[in-house]
Amino acid sequence: MNFDFTNALDWNVSEGVSIDDVKSISGKLHSFLESFRQSPPGFIKSLRNLDEIDEVIKAAEGYGNFENFVIVGIGGSALGVQAIQTALLHPSWNSLERESRSGHPRLFVIDNVDPEHVASLMDLIDPSKSVFNIISKSGSTAETMANYLVIRGALELKGLDPKIHLVFTTDPNEGALRKIAIDEEIPNFKIPSNVGGRFSVLTSVGLLASAVIGVDVKAMIDGAKKALSDFISQEDTLKNPTLFNAALHYLYSKKGKRISVMMPYSNALYALADWHRQLWAESLGKEKNLTGEVINAGQTPVKALGTVDQHSQVQLYMEGPNDKIITFLKVKEFRRNVKIPKIHKDKKEFAYLGGKDMSKLINSEQEATALALIEKGRPNLTITFEKINAEEVGKFFTYYESLVTAVGYLYGVNPFDQPGVELGKLNTYALVGREGYELQREHIEDVKKKLKYFMM
Ligand code: PA5
Repeated sequence: MNFDFTNALDWNVSEGVSIDDVKSISGKLHSFLESFRQSPPGFIKSLRNLDEIDEVIKAAEGYGNFENFVIVGIGGSALGVQAIQTALLHPSWNSLERESRSGHPRLFVIDNVDPEHVASLMDLIDPSKSVFNIISKSGSTAETMANYLVIRGALELKGLDPKIHLVFTTDPNEGALRKIAIDEEIPNFKIPSNVGGRFSVLTSVGLLASAVIGVDVKAMIDGAKKALSDFISQEDTLKNPTLFNAALHYLYSKKGKRISVMMPYSNALYALADWHRQLWAESLGKEKNLTGEVINAGQTPVKALGTVDQHSQVQLYMEGPNDKIITFLKVKEFRRNVKIPKIHKDKKEFAYLGGKDMSKLINSEQEATALALIEKGRPNLTITFEKINAEEVGKFFTYYESLVTAVGYLYGVNPFDQPGVELGKLNTYALVGREGYELQREHIEDVKKKLKYFMM
């Protein structure tokens, strides 16, 4: 991956962030780097746990003969796998013949509790030919547990052995899933206690499914380690793309850029923008800083797809409120290319396209959009993937996990908690009638009584 910050600096963007602005917070950035080196976050420690990675790869072999490998999880327990699947597998993977999948299973992700969606997926999946990987750090998330119960019901209906058709990925010690795994000897993996959901893609959460579908897990980890060593070995903020990008996002948010757009010019990278959206939102969107002061930190992450959203979003990005910093993702060398045929040579409106590679068109459109944006004073930067492969995807994950941790440090917030999400979870338990949540239920009833209603 390489990083082009040209269009994000005040040289080229009016009222942009300057190199001096970045230098003015380099002391803070260095303190962050030092603390990151001294006590690396859990997601870094787990990268170094080679035994666990080997264990996952070995276990994956046992699941290779099933027709379907089904992930059941939500948020950080699903988005990473979806990002890997979209980036590295054929876009119609599940429709390909087994041979064209090099013998690997189909991969499904059940994340929502939309009954139509779940029922339709269950129409496609024969439980007797499937393994269901139930992923939940807490082991109690309502959506994941509801889907687990649906699956468990389907297994019971057919008299299938849960030890063969289930594998749990959950906290090493805590939670109901861990207890069931122990009581019923269900195969299981541990999500390290110090790694939260959205930082867990390179643990067994993302690696088991990846190995089952034939992704080169070791290359992905090597990429992640390379990104890590590039990050921690570079003291100079102006040569360190993680620290520099953290500074840019932090400083631009102080200048009123409350929205951070990620816009891949590649369908395969689109789900990385989904993964990034959760990471950015849950890690940085905080009411209070570490000293308890109310700061309502964070930038709203938005995803867009180039070139498609040039025809839906870019009008707003160009002429609407100047409240965004845009990150483009692009691909230098696509895995496949399409030559546009030279037909209709007399039609000057599109004859120029004939004979060109489609990759040239998509990358030119990205450059054209980026340049048009700076003319309107809209900061943007471009991250280029040399190629889309496991190594580059691994680099991307670690790059962004480190970056968001750095931005969290600059805001002075804890990037690893999500108190706002927890309140929603408690309210759900209360509304659905979970035992022990009666007081919360009463509280909700009080809140509802005070509302003024307007319905049609
Ligand atoms: O990042 C997080 O911690 C969350 O988004 C979780 O991944 C999500 O809420 C699912 O939680 P769990 O894995 O406990 O089921």
